[in-house]
Amino acid sequence: MVKICCIGAGYVGGPTMAVIAVKCPAIEVVVVDISKPRIDAWNSDKLPIYEPGLDEVVKACRGKNLFFSTDVEKHVAEADIIFVSVNTPTKTRGLGAGKAADLTYWESAARMIADVSKSDKIVVEKSTVPVKTAEAIEKILTHNSKGINYQILSNPEFLAEGTAIEDLFKPDRVLIGGRETPEGRKAVQALKEVYAHWVPEENIITTNLWSAELSKLAANAFLAQRISSVNAMSALCEATGANVSEVSYAIGKDSRIGPKFLNASVGFGGSCFQKDILNLVYICECNGLPEVANYWKQVIKINDYQKSRFVNRVVSSMFNTVSGKKVAILGFAFKKDTGDTRETPAIDVCKGLLGDKAHVSIYDPEVTEDQIQRDLAMNKFDWDAYEATKGAHAVCILTEWNQFKELDYQKIFDNMQKPAFIFDGRNVVDAEKLRGIGFIVYSIGKPL
Ligand code: NAD
Ligand code: UGA
Repeated sequence: MVKICCIGAGYVGGPTMAVIAVKCPAIEVVVVDISKPRIDAWNSDKLPIYEPGLDEVVKACRGKNLFFSTDVEKHVAEADIIFVSVNTPTKTRGLGAGKAADLTYWESAARMIADVSKSDKIVVEKSTVPVKTAEAIEKILTHNSKGINYQILSNPEFLAEGTAIEDLFKPDRVLIGGRETPEGRKAVQALKEVYAHWVPEENIITTNLWSAELSKLAANAFLAQRISSVNAMSALCEATGANVSEVSYAIGKDSRIGPKFLNASVGFGGSCFQKDILNLVYICECNGLPEVANYWKQVIKINDYQKSRFVNRVVSSMFNTVSGKKVAILGFAFKKDTGDTRETPAIDVCKGLLGDKAHVSIYDPEVTEDQIQRDLAMNKFDWDAYEATKGAHAVCILTEWNQFKELDYQKIFDNMQKPAFIFDGRNVVDAEKLRGIGFIVYSIGKPL
C-alpha cells in the first residue's frame, strides 16, 4: 500500500487529500498539522472549512484510508510520498518585506522531513512557492540526508475556494514538474499514477521543476489581471454610460478572450491573488526586470483603486457623509460559497466606511461573528439580512451569495431610512426591479 502524508491541513491540504483518498482506496492518506484545533475539527462533525461537497467526501473515507493527525513526525517517517501544503504568506519584515513569500513554514517542514526520514521519499510542493524553491528544499534535504534519496516535485494546486471539490474531481489539468533525470522521471511517474486513478492522462501535464513552479504564479497573475482589466473598464463604463456586463458579454464572445472570469466587482480578494502577484513582482525585481515587475504591480494597484472607488461612491452619493448613518453590509467572505475572509474586499470597504464614521452592520451566511471581530477589531455582526438592514440608510452587497438575489427587497425597503440606497458591489440584484420598489441603486460599471 502506497502511503501518502500531507503536511498542512488547510484549505488545500484537507480537500486535496480527501479527494485522493476517495478516488484511491488502496492508498493510505494521512493529513498532519501542528494545529491541534484544526486536526480536532477535521476529526469532528464540523469540519474547519466550509466547502460544498467536502463533508460527503470526508465522511466516505475518514477512518478507512483517510486520517487526520497531529503526530506529524510519525506519519512523515512512514510515508512514501509527502505533500507539503503549508501556508506561504507574504513576508512582513526583513528582506523583501511586503512582497516576497515567507518560506519559514516550508523550511521548518523540510528540516523536519530530513530529521525523521529513514527511507527514500518523494517530497511534493503543493504550496504556492517562488520559482527555484525546489532547489532550496533539495539543498536542505540532501545536506541532511543520511544516505536517503529525496526527489522533489512541484505539483501546484489550481482549485478555487467554493468549488474545491468540483475542481479536484474534474481538474482542467494537473501539473507535475520534476528533475529531468532517471530518478526524477520515476518520481514524476509515481505521482502521475496517483492522479491517473481519476484524471485522464492527457490532462496530466509534466514539465521541468521551474516551469511548474512559475506556471502557478503565472496562472494566478493572469486570472487576477482579467479581473483588474474588467474593473478598470467598469470605471470607464460609469463615466460614459456603457454597461460593463454588456461589454464583458460582447468581448467574451470572442473565442480568443472567452466568457469566464469577466465579472466586474468591488475588487478581488482571497488569500492568494495579491500574495502571489507580489511574489512574482519580487522575483522579477530580483532578476533585474523592473519593467516586468511594474507591469504586474499594476494589477494590484487597480484592485486597490476599485475598492477605494467603491467606498468613495457610497460616501459621495449619500450627500458626502455617512457619519452616524447605518450601512448594512451583505456578504463579508471574499466570494460566495466560502466562509474565508482572507484579503476580502469587505475588510477594506468596512474600514473605509468606519473611517467616515458610519455604523456598519454585517451579515454573511458563512462567516462567523468571531472572524469579523478578528478582521475589524469590533463587533458588527447580525444573524440575518433583514436584521442587518433594519433602519439602515444604505445596503452594500459585497459577496455574490445566491440568497442575496432572492431576498424580499420590498420588506427591506419598508424597514430602511429614506432615501434607501443599494450599492451592489457584485452586480447580483436586478437594479431595475429595485428601482421600481423605490431604491436608489448603484451597480458596478452600469448607468444609473
Ligand atoms: P492554510 O493556512 O489554510 O493551511 C496551512 C496549514 O499548514 C495550517 O493549518 C498550518 O497550521 C499548517 N502548518 C504550517 N506549518 C506547518 C508545519 N511545519 N507542520 C505542520 N503543519 C504546518 O493555507 P491554504 O489556504 O491551505 O494554502 C496552503 C498553500 O496552498 C499556500 O501556499 C497557498 O498559496 C496555496 N494555495 C491555496 C489555495 C486556496 O484556495 N486557499 C489554492 C491553491 C494554492
Ligand atoms: C484562485 C484561482 O481561481 C485558483 O485557480 C487558485 O488555485 C487559487 O486562487 C489560489 O491559488 O489560491 P480563489 O481565490 O479561491 O481561487 O477564488 P477565485 O474564484 O479565483 O476568486 C478570487 C477573487 O476574484 C474573489 O474575490 C472573486 O469574487 C473575484 N472575482 C472572480 C471577480 O471579482 N470577478 C470574476 O470574474 C471572478
